[in-house]
Amino acid sequence: MTLDDKNQNDILSSELINSYDIEYVFSDKPINRIKIKPKVENKSKLLENLREKISNIDNCEFKNHATQMVFSDGNSESPIMIVGEGPGQKEDVIGKPFVGDAGLLLNKMLKAINIDRNNIYITNVVNYRPPNNRKPEPAEITRYSNFLREHISIIDPKILILMGSTAMEALFGSKIKITKERGAWKEVIVNQKTYLTMITFHPAYLLRQPDQKKYSWSDLKAIGKKIDELGLKI
Ligand code: URA
Repeated sequence: MTLDDKNQNDILSSELINSYDIEYVFSDKPINRIKIKPKVENKSKLLENLREKISNIDNCEFKNHATQMVFSDGNSESPIMIVGEGPGQKEDVIGKPFVGDAGLLLNKMLKAINIDRNNIYITNVVNYRPPNNRKPEPAEITRYSNFLREHISIIDPKILILMGSTAMEALFGSKIKITKERGAWKEVIVNQKTYLTMITFHPAYLLRQPDQKKYSWSDLKAIGKKIDELGLKI
């Protein structure tokens, strides 16, 4: 092999390694020569980039009327990620998801299965308050679902909880009904990775329809059981 061939090979193999988007650490030991470094330190950078990308959205009625972006709350290292619909009036003022009445109910629901909301990660499909809290249109859900997919890939949760029909539609489309789909474990593929997912009722819906809380409780118990089965540390 000539020196030129060798240089060419080195360039090709480093291009291959870089194309995997994985940080490799080489060691001298004969086994475990390649270790995959956790991307923890990348996460906040990726989240910052995503926040920036969302802030650059144009021709968006939500952004044009909102006070500020509501990006997320909680622990980005958590194995549990909750997705709601979009900020309401209080969230728009405070800049955090689920801090109004629906948020208070969400906190109680989580507490019922021994989860402190600060230990999980919470976001919404749309990151700016829809005027008069209207439900996002399908085209708006689709537009924001691209950001949501990226968000899920960055957080990389073990369990994804979709609260309400907007969150369900963002990942499963609008042809299905939440009353039929809630409560069953499903898989959703986001950027070539499969995520274990539970669709459940939105807390704001439960405030309007308290008789539906029994279904929500059954979903929460299933989530608690799965957390135990998977040995997740929350
Ligand atoms: N409802 C949502 O879906 N998200 C919030 O952040 C608040 C209310």
